[in-house]
Amino acid sequence: MRRGPKGGPPGRAPKYHRRMQTTQIDIRSLLASGNVVLGPMAGITEAPFRAICKRMGAGLTFTEMVSAKGLHYNPDAEISKALLTLAPEEVPCAVQIFGAEPELMAAQARRIVELHGANVALIDINMGCPVTKVVSKGEGSALMRTPGLAAKIVRRVAEASGVPVSAKFRSGWCADDVNAVEFARAMEAAGASAVTVHGRTRDQFYRGRADWDVIAAVREAVDIPVIGSGDVFCAADAKAMFEQCGVDAVMVARGAQGNPWIFTQVRALLDTGVEIEPPSAFERIDVAREHAAALVAFGGEHAFTRMRKHVAWYITGMPDAALVRRRANEVASYRELDDLLARFRAYLEEFDGQDIQNTEHRVPFTG
Ligand SMILES: Cc1cc2nc3c(=O)[nH]c(=O)nc-3n(C[C@H](O)[C@H](O)[C@H](O)COP(=O)(O)O)c2cc1C
Repeated sequence: MRRGPKGGPPGRAPKYHRRMQTTQIDIRSLLASGNVVLGPMAGITEAPFRAICKRMGAGLTFTEMVSAKGLHYNPDAEISKALLTLAPEEVPCAVQIFGAEPELMAAQARRIVELHGANVALIDINMGCPVTKVVSKGEGSALMRTPGLAAKIVRRVAEASGVPVSAKFRSGWCADDVNAVEFARAMEAAGASAVTVHGRTRDQFYRGRADWDVIAAVREAVDIPVIGSGDVFCAADAKAMFEQCGVDAVMVARGAQGNPWIFTQVRALLDTGVEIEPPSAFERIDVAREHAAALVAFGGEHAFTRMRKHVAWYITGMPDAALVRRRANEVASYRELDDLLARFRAYLEEFDGQDIQNTEHRVPFTG
């Protein structure tokens, strides 16, 4: 007799019996071998940036959320292709989809696995996006209010894709409806191989402090690996989250913006107890230039406009950063952006070893 999940009562026969991957990646061991992961950030964690984070020590990377409906109705759209491009450096990685229609999501998950095979370690279901356009369709964090539907999505996607499935959700919908613990149990019962908990409610968006107690409570409540998300901005934060929440892995999202070195720093602190020096201004500019070149190679010449926010993050705290940010917003091509960064680097080189923050005797960068 066929048994349901966890050896329970017989379940409904899955529609897709054929498994596309004969050897599923074991998520628990994958996370154990790299327990600091890069979180998905729409519009930010494109493939070139994920590759850099992986090189710097991220254990696992997640694609930005991809609309299952978008993939279904517009499979050949450039945006669908770009969102589903995986960098060779990051595989196997997690591909995140969002939606609220189990069959459609199952079919798209299957297609993603057909496309990428063993390069997909995990299909992650977005159940945390707070944006009105998304939740008004019952997608993203709205699924926390329809746990039955959320469970059905996990079950069908797991059956159809043949790869491990995880769910990424928040502490709850609002302060009066914090249901992450029950929700996590429901996802586990539906067949999720892992969950990620962002310790904020939907109503909070990204405001306030993340509630790590909820993350710890989820860790206590389920047997599958739990990834904690929210407010990890430095190596000490990551260590504190491991200690306070007992999570299997820590997710870094905004803390990696302009700072992929955070993965190296967290690894060093966790593995050797050593706090390593932050990168020099030169290293930061060099990686910003590498990132820009890779983004343009990946997304075409116009992708340089998407680099502006990254440049602003990379140069945060450097002398004359405000001026460089302004100039980066004015440049009309990748070439001009790269020239600006090269000139800024040369300018800083002149002051190497001196107190560049002391503006008294310094001729400011003119752009
Ligand atoms: C600009 C932005 C875009 C995001 N996009 C996604 C997304 O596509 N999918 C998702 O599950 N979470 C997304 N998140 C949430 C992050 O993955 C993460 O859970 C959250 O920012 C809390 O972690 P942090 O404090 O380390 O940033 C996004 C966050 C930000 C700031």
